[in-house]
Amino acid sequence: MQTKPILEVLARRPQPTPPVWFMRQAGRYLSEYRQVRERAGGFLDLCSNPELAAEVTLQPIRRFGFDAAIIFSDILVVPHALKRTVRFEVGEGPRLDPLADAAALNSLTESADDAVFAPVYETVRRVKAQLPDNVALLGFCGAPWTVATYMVAGQGTPDQAPARILAYREPEAFARMIEILVETSTRYLVGQLKAGADAVQIFDTWAGVLPPAQFERWCIEPTRKLIENVRREIPDAKIIGFPRGAGASLPTFVERSGVSAVSIDWTAEPSLIRDKVQNRVAVQGNLDPLVLLAGGRALDEAVDNILENFGSGPLIFNLGHGILPQTPITHVEQTLKRLRAAR
Ligand code: CP3
Repeated sequence: MQTKPILEVLARRPQPTPPVWFMRQAGRYLSEYRQVRERAGGFLDLCSNPELAAEVTLQPIRRFGFDAAIIFSDILVVPHALKRTVRFEVGEGPRLDPLADAAALNSLTESADDAVFAPVYETVRRVKAQLPDNVALLGFCGAPWTVATYMVAGQGTPDQAPARILAYREPEAFARMIEILVETSTRYLVGQLKAGADAVQIFDTWAGVLPPAQFERWCIEPTRKLIENVRREIPDAKIIGFPRGAGASLPTFVERSGVSAVSIDWTAEPSLIRDKVQNRVAVQGNLDPLVLLAGGRALDEAVDNILENFGSGPLIFNLGHGILPQTPITHVEQTLKRLRAAR
């Protein structure tokens, strides 16, 4: 019998009370995070400081007793390792040197700087040593497509149009970048798993902006390859996919990619998920971060709704996307109380 409820669910054994963690659970809605963040210097300095990164990884576990800790880092550590300039402007999000054309894509280096990844592995080892036995440790990376969208645009945009246009105009050069990201992300995930991560999540925040043929080519296929590569080295690796906004394509994503579980957003259609997704793999989700922010009766109802929709199958309770910095702590407490009282 495993002692970590999340690993039970990933093995498709439903738990009486679904285990719970929140995407972006270490972050600005926590005063203890803001304090560490202030003395860490830049955001990337915090990510590459194992002592402080381990501390902020553990903060939400201590405060809320979540069933998983997710290692504190960022998906843009990968372009940083590929020698792209990555900066985080306060209040503005990430800024990278954009990649404007085929020549820029073709000049991308294939060899990632392992020195950028080393502190993340050290953070994994430190957190692992301090974590209670029943709490799972999750590593992660961005999916090749989502990381590519930031590398091309140099920042977040409403619809990641720059990457979509470049992928239409220069499919071969774009495919080269995606391949580099598949190879680099393989090494990065294997490194996190070898350092002690119990499972890893692949964040594809921008999967939902693609038409079906492009979704297949730039989201499913690179994710499938990445998972195949990781399992060549670690055959039983537990991998959670998060193709945000995939909607009606979720069953195809699950079937082809080889994920052990899929994280769904709040727009997912419950009967589709039950009949064509949760019958194959564990499901994670899918509270709307805005109902968590709003609180009150709407929040209680939304929690009950998720339990009704997905609670009888393998379920990891989570948000449908990251927690918002303005979220009151009391609403997180209300959610956990409701969830844990339900059975
Ligand atoms: O979940 C966790 O607690 C682990 C840490 C984590 C961060 N980013 C820390 C972070 C994880 C898993 C991520 C993933 C990530 N990063 C994604 C995929 C998931 C998603 O939310 O869509 C993406 C697209 C990024 C890129 C990124 N990093 C953006 C767009 C931003 C700016 C937006 C924002 O919230 O500020 C970041 C910055 C970032 N990453 C912060 C944190 C805690 C805030 C920066 C700060 O503290 O100053």
